[in-house]
Amino acid sequence: MKNFLRSELDILKSYSPGKPISDVKRELGLKEVIKLASNESPYPPFPEAIEAIWSARNEAYRYPDSGCVELKNKLASFLDVLESNLMIGNGSNELLRLLAQVCLNPGDEVIMANPSFIVYPTVTKIMNGVCREIPLKNHKHDLVKILDAVNDKTKIVFICNPNNPTGTIVTKTEVEDFLRNVPDGVMVVFDEAYFEYVDNKNYPNGLDYFSEDKQIVVLRTFSKIYGLAGCRIGYGIASRSIVSAVNKIREPFNVNHLAQVAAMASLGCKNQVKERKKLNLEQKFYLYKAFDEMGLDYVKSEANFILVDVKKDSREVFDKLLYKGIIIRTGNIFGLDYEDYIRVTIGTPEENKKFIKALREVLSSR
Ligand SMILES: Cc1ncc(COP(=O)(O)O)c(C=O)c1O
Repeated sequence: MKNFLRSELDILKSYSPGKPISDVKRELGLKEVIKLASNESPYPPFPEAIEAIWSARNEAYRYPDSGCVELKNKLASFLDVLESNLMIGNGSNELLRLLAQVCLNPGDEVIMANPSFIVYPTVTKIMNGVCREIPLKNHKHDLVKILDAVNDKTKIVFICNPNNPTGTIVTKTEVEDFLRNVPDGVMVVFDEAYFEYVDNKNYPNGLDYFSEDKQIVVLRTFSKIYGLAGCRIGYGIASRSIVSAVNKIREPFNVNHLAQVAAMASLGCKNQVKERKKLNLEQKFYLYKAFDEMGLDYVKSEANFILVDVKKDSREVFDKLLYKGIIIRTGNIFGLDYEDYIRVTIGTPEENKKFIKALREVLSSR
């Protein structure tokens, strides 16, 4: 039989998300399960967002506002950018895919760090693009090597800042040196999904480098600190020509109504965002201390997750933690260098305490 599926799909694997809580409860017969696997917020949406969703529930029989006009208006003043430079996506994941679709011709090259966010290779390969993956240096993007890899075929450079899965950042100086030397015609995408968590004065805000005549794109999301991962809504800032190209190919109603109202309400919650950032920092230091006590090395993180060297096969640690009702991510998915690492999302104080207790038990058992 003739294969009617595109041959490019043969080299792709489907995205494997963090194991869902419901699966673990069902499979292992557990009542309580803690998920620290997908870098979500451990806290629910802000009360204002829940209220907005509740108030809008009866409008769900209508299609959503296709242009996200009201949200763009609010976001434009929140970020101090023009509405015409904004694109809203069904998660920033959708925007990553749309950017690849509007830019890449077969054979075009895309540069990314390795390991970095696992969606970049997928969106490149579905367009028949070529991935150039530059190894991290000390768990950080090596912008010098990334720049060296740029050539005539380079179309996009993805800079995940902070990087998923390491939580490391590239600094202002590094980014400025990079941007000074990167040729015109290369789109530089700053993926800032964890922007709101960063507490480091050397962290660059991608928006400072954006201008209408540059191919710089900044992506952010409501999935992380805002706690709206289940609503699927993220946004990007890009030149008008990129935004209008994306508008041509996105689905007509790509962002649902409840996500739009929840995002708008969340933008008003600046103090609560600060509070969550503070809680995340406190809990990060709680986890660092516990890892130090256990003699475990870890990568210092600027985000809401930590990569920890558990000194044994992470799949074994994953399985044992799962039986104790705790879901984390194994490092093997990030390459050979990380097989003994686990990636753990920073949870609530109670969740972190339970995780540390379970990890101690798992690592002390044979
Ligand atoms: C670096 C990075 N970018 C983008 C995303 C996608 O986020 P969303 O599609 O939920 O906005 C994630 C999600 O984990 C991420 O880690």
